[in-house]
This record gives sequence, C-alpha cells and structure tokens, in this order.
Amino acid sequence: MKSYKITLLPGDGIGPEITNVTQKILDLVSRKFGFEIKFKEMPFGGSAIDSVGNPFPDKTLQECKNSDAVLLAAIGDPKYDELPREKRPETGLLNLRSSLELFANIRPVKIIPSLTKASSLKEEFVKNVDLVVVRELTSGIYFGEPKGSIKTEKGERAFNTMTYTSEEIKRIAEIAFKLAKQRNQKVCSVDKANVLDVSQLWREETILVSNKYKEIELTHQYVDNAAMQLVRNPSQFDVILTGNLFGDILSDIAAMLTGSIGMLPSASLTTNGPGVFEPVHGSAPDIAGKDIANPIAMLLSAAMMLKIAFNETQAANHLENAINEILNEGYRTSDLMSNQTTKQVGCSQMGELVAEKLK
Ligand code: IPM
Ligand code: MN
Repeated sequence: MKSYKITLLPGDGIGPEITNVTQKILDLVSRKFGFEIKFKEMPFGGSAIDSVGNPFPDKTLQECKNSDAVLLAAIGDPKYDELPREKRPETGLLNLRSSLELFANIRPVKIIPSLTKASSLKEEFVKNVDLVVVRELTSGIYFGEPKGSIKTEKGERAFNTMTYTSEEIKRIAEIAFKLAKQRNQKVCSVDKANVLDVSQLWREETILVSNKYKEIELTHQYVDNAAMQLVRNPSQFDVILTGNLFGDILSDIAAMLTGSIGMLPSASLTTNGPGVFEPVHGSAPDIAGKDIANPIAMLLSAAMMLKIAFNETQAANHLENAINEILNEGYRTSDLMSNQTTKQVGCSQMGELVAEKLK
C-alpha cells in the first residue's frame, strides 16, 4: 500500500480545531482510496514559543524535511506582538519558507457557485472568477538585505530592500507559464515598473521567459491598477504572476472575491522537496476555541496536497466534490452566512457533514 508522511503543524488560534477536522477527513479519504497517511504533529508558531521558546524549532524543521508534505493550519496571536522579531510566530513562518526554499506560492481563487451571494461584490462580477495568484515567496522585500534600523542625527531610520535576481524571477515566471498552459493560457505579470528598478528587471525577465511559451498571452499591470482591476473586473484574470509583497496584498483582495477568506487554500512549492499546504487565512484568535471556525480552506489545502504532492487526483476530486455538495445543501459556517435559507454549523459539525458525504 502506498504510504505518505505528513508533518502536521496546527499552530495557533483556530489552527488546532481545523487541523483536527482535516486529519479526520484525510484518514477517511485515504482509507477509501487505498493509501495510507502517517501524521506527525510538531510545534510551530506561537504555541512553539510557549512550549520550547522558538517559533520554528530545529526538530520541526528536520521533521518537515523528512516528510512527503507539510500541512500547516495557521499561526499568530497579538500576545506575541511585543516579542523581539526573531521570536515572533511570523518569523517562524518566514524561516520555514526559506529553509525549505518554497519559492512558489500558488493561491487559486475560484468562485463556488452556491457562494456567489457571500461576496461583497455583485454576483455578475464574481460569478466567472477562476484565477490563480502565483506569488514569489522566498525573496523580494521580505528577505532583501540590507534591512534594519539605525539611529541617525534626525532620529531612527528603518529600511528594507526590495531585490530580485534574474534567476529568481525566471524560476517563478516558469511556474506561472506552466500553470497557464494547463489553464486558460493567460499570464498577467504584476509589478511597479513605472517606479521601481527591481520591477524593470522583473518585466524584462518575464518577457524573456514568455518567448518560450508562444501560445500563452502575457500582459503586464502595475500593482495599483491590478488591485483596482481585481475589484472592477476580476474575471479578466487567469494566472497572476507577482513578487512577494505585491502577491501578499493582491492575494488577500482576490480571496475576498469568494466571500470569505475562510475558503482559500494554498500551496508553497520548491523544485525538489516537500511542499507546504496551508489555508490563506490566519489564526483568527478572536474566534479560537469556540468551534465556529471554517475548516474548508484547510480541507481544500489538503485536497491540493493530495493532487500536487501525492498525485492522488481521484481522492482530491472526491474531497472537493464532497465540500461542494455540502455547500450546495446550504450548510455554512458563520463567516459564510448570507440569508435565511442557509443552515449555520460549527467547525466540527462541518467536518462531520463532509465526512458523511465522503462515504
Ligand atoms: C501570508 C501572511 C504572511 C505573509 C505573514 C503571516 C507573515 O500574510 O501568508 O500571506 O505576509 O506572507
Ligand atoms: Mn498575507
């Protein structure tokens, strides 16, 4: 029997609740489709700060490296905001990304027909949305040097550096073009080339890569325009290719088109090694422990893992269909409630409903 090793990182806030649901569902799916999943849970984020004093312990890194995939829920809590930067949960996340060289962050945004009413935009604008944000994840201003803060005569001066090498741009552009080939043949590269040197290089390298993919239409948008286009006419997009910071911002905007950031999965991939699969949403400490969180983004992340990391496409499709059916029947977690005809359920109950459909 095929067997896969997953490192589970439940993290903080609602993380443990949605992980619980996801693990149960994966157990069911694997049994049904004749493979085995071995889970190993490891400390990460704020809970790791509490238990071992480090948001990304070495042991956790070793386990991640030795697994076939990493499934991460969410990290962060305002109670760690006062800690020095190297001790914060977010720093653990950035270290995880760079240690596993997860340069390609894939964030699909597809409208689920039964949820068009949950969007804050009019139905006619969102009903055809089916796009993917391909965000560079291990370079750019998040990691650029020099960075820091120094005292000057005029007071403190803080700085970061937005930097990309040709190689870094080419390898993420390749990912975007390959993805577009399997989809609707369009890449929109987002930069700020009217102002930034780093964006000028981004644009040049992207055009060079596009020469290899003649069948793919490449367009360019400045990031401010792209933000506007995402709310003006989001169905114009197929694959959006962009850098680390712009991708962070645009993927939140794109996420909201679906009505709830609680619906969106993501994959962070490297060329050779385990990927990390995680919901786009955060740890939502305000609703943690109340059993009202939406587990669907993590379930869809698990489906992405089944497809991309294990090639278990049938199992992944079965899981996605089960989720769609439950939504079609009107079941919603509180973040998705739109009218009286929907039936509100909690986190674990949503898990039980999906489990029932999987049988
Ligand atoms: C994300 C998050 C992270 C990011 C934070 C938590 C460091 O917002 O994954 O989009 O900025 O990349
Ligand atoms: Mn973000």
